[in-house]
Amino acid sequence: MTTVVVGMQWGDEGKGKIIDLLAEKADVIVRFQGGNNAGHTIVLPQGKFILHLIPSGILHRGKKCVIANGVVVDPEVLIEEIESLERRGVEVEGNLLISERSHLIFPYHRALDKLKEKRGMFKIGTTGRGIGPCYADKVARSGIRLIDLYSEEFKERLKDNVEEKNVLFRAYGIEEFSVEQIYEQYQRFARRLKKYLCDCSQVLSRAIEERKDVLFEGAQGTLLDIDYGTYPYVTSSNALAGGVSAGAGVAPTCIDEVIGVTKAYTTRVGEGPFPGEFADDLIDRFRERGEEYGATTGRARRCGWFDALIGKHSVRLNAIKSIAITKLDVLTGMGEINICVAYRYKGEVVKELPADIKVLKECEPIYEHWKGWEEDISRIREYKDLPENAKRYLGRIEELLQVKIKIISVGSEREQTIFI
Ligand code: GDP
Ligand code: IMO
Ligand code: MG
Repeated sequence: MTTVVVGMQWGDEGKGKIIDLLAEKADVIVRFQGGNNAGHTIVLPQGKFILHLIPSGILHRGKKCVIANGVVVDPEVLIEEIESLERRGVEVEGNLLISERSHLIFPYHRALDKLKEKRGMFKIGTTGRGIGPCYADKVARSGIRLIDLYSEEFKERLKDNVEEKNVLFRAYGIEEFSVEQIYEQYQRFARRLKKYLCDCSQVLSRAIEERKDVLFEGAQGTLLDIDYGTYPYVTSSNALAGGVSAGAGVAPTCIDEVIGVTKAYTTRVGEGPFPGEFADDLIDRFRERGEEYGATTGRARRCGWFDALIGKHSVRLNAIKSIAITKLDVLTGMGEINICVAYRYKGEVVKELPADIKVLKECEPIYEHWKGWEEDISRIREYKDLPENAKRYLGRIEELLQVKIKIISVGSEREQTIFI
């Protein structure tokens, strides 16, 4: 069985927690896109873990965790993540595999990311990790893959890249990069990472043939997808379930199921349109109760009510068959809870997410109003014990999205979960 788990909003939906739960029954857990722009949080009795590159299955003993070819890897961050997990007693060696075809992030990618954000009119609010510039080099065919570090051509290709990028750094008065320095550093990384290399398509097709359970861990979310997100305020990879095929070398016909993860409300980090974004005291209540601060950059997340247009957009694009809804506990005590069911744009009712970013910016949400609940739900483990108003709220979301909710998360810990 192969299952893809994707974010249905602008990332940070709680995918880490859900993957960790599902990983218990899986054999292989695979990251197929994105890089260390992701921050997936897992809360265990021994403490909190935030994973940026290593799949969220690593905290279960003996699970194979694969970083596939579609991921852009910053080797320095990866090595630090491996070592930090090992220091906390997590067994990484023997469980982690990295695709030899994955593209590498270099220091000049991080510098380019920051420069573009400072210079241009169209600041995206990126994580500054060099993700966009690395994917740009990949598509421009000047990227350097993990396997290329072991090639005799590596230094020449690095030199070509550094010289090209230094022209821009010089023009902007930014310190230039030295080929020698990066070469030495990346030779060290190459030696350190050699034992993890694999051909991930071969590994995964063997696992699928042997009827193993394979879990694909999406990073970011549908609205950050490079094609179907709120372009240009998106990330640089395909965060959709469709990204699995090219991103992990697994054909579309090999995917059995897609699970969507959504918060019971909406958040986003960085720039870009967000119809119905809270501007009043609600923002403080959500930030405080939902601890809405980025797991990667610590930036405060923007918040709003649940948006059914976004939900439907995600269900269609990913062929989502079931939903995991997280952070329902954060809505406790809200009095009235709203659901955005359509937008109003220049007097017209809009029912699908518009592609034109200028239109989306001017869309006003049309809300349905639902009664909230006061009871603490964070200790509830059975659906039947939820307050009636919480059940009505969830039922309305299912009705609007035409998909069943199978997992309800009522807290950050593993146990704080209701399976339906
Ligand atoms: P991801 O990027 O999708 O994995 O999500 P993040 O880890 O960036 O952000 C989700 C945050 O919400 C983390 O701090 C989680 O510990 C926390 N979280 C996950 N599920 C729940 C939940 O049901 N209730 C509450 N209160 N927090 C949750
Ligand atoms: P996880 O996997 C939330 C956002 C950034 C920015 C835009 C582009 O934890 O859900 P990038 O650095 O990718 O070029 O930034 O995308 N972004 C995320 N927002 N969760 C994430 O990952 C994100 N990864 C990128 O804030 O708006
Ligand atoms: Mg996150």
